[in-house]
Amino acid sequence: MDRYAVIGNPISHSKSPQIHAQFAAQTGQAMSYEALLAPLDDFAGSLREFFVGGLGVNVTVPFKEQAWALVDERTPAAERAGAVNTIKRLADGRLLGDNTDGKGLVRDIQINHGLALKGLRILLVGAGGAARGVIQPILDAAPEQLCVVNRTVAKAEQLAALFVDQGPISAAGFDWIEEPVDLIINATSASLAGELPAISPKLIQPGHTVCYDMMYAKEPTTFNRWAAEHGAARCIDGLGMLVEQAAEAFQLWRGVRPDTGPVLAALR
Ligand code: ATR
Repeated sequence: MDRYAVIGNPISHSKSPQIHAQFAAQTGQAMSYEALLAPLDDFAGSLREFFVGGLGVNVTVPFKEQAWALVDERTPAAERAGAVNTIKRLADGRLLGDNTDGKGLVRDIQINHGLALKGLRILLVGAGGAARGVIQPILDAAPEQLCVVNRTVAKAEQLAALFVDQGPISAAGFDWIEEPVDLIINATSASLAGELPAISPKLIQPGHTVCYDMMYAKEPTTFNRWAAEHGAARCIDGLGMLVEQAAEAFQLWRGVRPDTGPVLAALR
């Protein structure tokens, strides 16, 4: 049986095995997909061991940057993202690293939620690995402006500088802008701790601005509750992004595109 897995630490909470099992059943692919816990100090060892027979892995927190460094070849998306979330073993045994997070986010927003990014003023909150992974695909969708805002301004500036040649990107601190935007994407890890990035509610134009939290949980996230309180037109969580990035990985491995709709509906 063709073997695939998701590797992370922690990993028991991962929905990826469930998602890929549904993709496999739907497309008639004979494959297994398991969740593997790698020791924090030996991701490389776990990866080596898996690829003795395995064909592909998804990589999750906290190993995406290490995965980037360990693969033999990278897609352009992975190269710029500085992180790899999908690895495929090529026919000659070398490992190809891709990053499907950004493509997953953009597909979720544009296709599942019907919001074209072209011409929009977008605020990306956060300047860590999660933010970096989604910038290129957002710029590829031709927004009017993508502004990266971060608590630590220098990190936003460094990140924007990496992509200046790719599109209209800028950087700012939390209290620098109060003009409403069309879309706010929360890529900070603040929701994990039940915290809120200290951005101005004036960024939300009631009834117009769409807010997207890359995190998801059973209950609305702290960020999405804040957005709803301030009149956001829509508050979207990251579950759709999770399913879409998985579909991109599945396509890279198996060459067929699963239908994400029923899988997302089942998870909800
Ligand atoms: P990830 O891989 O999830 O992006 P990371 O690289 O550690 O994790 O980045 C975390 C991001 O969340 C950073 O942008 C961080 O802001 P700083 O760079 O200023 O640390 C942001 N973040 C985390 N907690 C936050 C909070 N309570 N308020 C605002 N931003 C927060």
